[in-house]
Amino acid sequence: MESDKQLTGTLALAVFTAALGSLQFGYSMGVINAPQKVIEKHYARSLGLWPEGDPALSENSTRGVDMLDAGQHPEVIMYWSLSVAIFSVGGMVSSFLVGFVGDLRGRVKGMLMVNVLAMAGGLLMGLCKMWKPHIMVISGRAVMGFYCGLTSGLVPMYIGEIAPKAYRGALGTLHQLAIVVGILLSQVIGLDFLLGNDSMWPLLLGLSGAPSILQSLLLPLCPESPRYLYICQGKVEEASKSLRRLKGEYDQSADLEEMKKEKEEGEKEDTISILSLLRSSVYRQQLLVALLMHLSQQFSGINAIFYYSTDIFDRAGVGYPVYATIGVGVINTIFTLVSVALVDRAGRRTLTLIGLGGMCCCAVAMTVGLNLQMDYSWMSYVCMSAVFLFVSFFEIGPGPIPWFIVAELFSQGPRPAAIALAGCCNWTCNFLIGMTFPYIQEFLGSYVFILFAGLLLVFTVVTYLKVPETKGKSFKEIAAVFQKGHKKVPANTEMELEQLKSATDA
Ligand code: GLC
Repeated sequence: MESDKQLTGTLALAVFTAALGSLQFGYSMGVINAPQKVIEKHYARSLGLWPEGDPALSENSTRGVDMLDAGQHPEVIMYWSLSVAIFSVGGMVSSFLVGFVGDLRGRVKGMLMVNVLAMAGGLLMGLCKMWKPHIMVISGRAVMGFYCGLTSGLVPMYIGEIAPKAYRGALGTLHQLAIVVGILLSQVIGLDFLLGNDSMWPLLLGLSGAPSILQSLLLPLCPESPRYLYICQGKVEEASKSLRRLKGEYDQSADLEEMKKEKEEGEKEDTISILSLLRSSVYRQQLLVALLMHLSQQFSGINAIFYYSTDIFDRAGVGYPVYATIGVGVINTIFTLVSVALVDRAGRRTLTLIGLGGMCCCAVAMTVGLNLQMDYSWMSYVCMSAVFLFVSFFEIGPGPIPWFIVAELFSQGPRPAAIALAGCCNWTCNFLIGMTFPYIQEFLGSYVFILFAGLLLVFTVVTYLKVPETKGKSFKEIAAVFQKGHKKVPANTEMELEQLKSATDA
């Protein structure tokens, strides 16, 4: 028990180091919005649509009608949309490889290896003026997306495996905290008087790769996941050493015993591939819960706010929409901190329910505000407050919890495959919302958030019915919750595990 309450310097270092990957993920997600007009102008020039030496491209011209013209050219629109969207495509593809990379040489070496991608992506974007900026940026974003798909799985996997049970939620939420700090950082340094201008924008984009340099220096100091060492590699001595570094001197027998049991059970189930996980009825409930959590995170409409908040604030008649957007980033960070403090006390299920329910009410308030703004000017304040509250409710639960709960829901064998599937679901939905929101907005006009309110209501009800509490439970206890719901246990489970084993052996 004692060991579960202990937070050592090495554990803090390991979690901080891993979370640098999440920082990079958040930064890359947020960085592309602010400098849109400036970058479009450079695309236009390199595509030959802008006269060479035009004074409008002088160092200080970052605003003006001229840039709007550049952004309206079909070729520029195409390259710009591709620059934004290719990031998610990279993430969708690579999230499938999370299990493979994490199991190849371990979680720590996995994170170290993929940093090469982050550095390459950063360099391509940072040096984009040296060749055709549109090609360089699109390639850099693709590589960076590929990196982020991997990091968004490897980080929660590593943190979930090294965190003591009592702090698994709080430490798991640090992944999301680093994401939101990354988004905020990119919003602030993307302001036009900082790096979001004509001369500095390549540096702004290139900086996405910077945290990987620090992370590469620190990773060799981080202990490998004891669960990986013991359960996947059978290295008991090394696992025990790693535990000592992470938790200090304590009686390890309970931890080692738990891993031993999991290893023995794991030997029956072996490492489970993505395909066999999809087919298995043993893990179906867990998988459905994991996917549900990620679906509700993305289809809550959160990224409609993040990608298009400036435009939404503009339509709602809010003055200084860019600063209101930064306000969203600040609120976002503050409420993620609130979640860090609450998640191991209030529990995952409660916070998710409060979050989804609250977001549903805010989406209704936003619709009312947008529709009545012509009649009452103060409705713009209703809209702005509703957006701020929407984001706050998101960060209380539906934002951070899906990222770490997948590692909690599955034992060592199916965990990598489950994280890969959940990650891919997240990236795909993120991509779909990013691509379709402008069209949905066009179609539904000021009723656009009613759509999300409806979805949020459904997600709240399904979460209430299906998602169990995982707070403070061991991996084995969590598995038992689902086994209870699985009527055909035990004979069928045994049989299926056998089938799974032979399928993966083959
Ligand atoms: C979560 C989501 C991400 C979103 C972010 C906002 O990490 O996965 O898509 O942009 O939260 O804080």
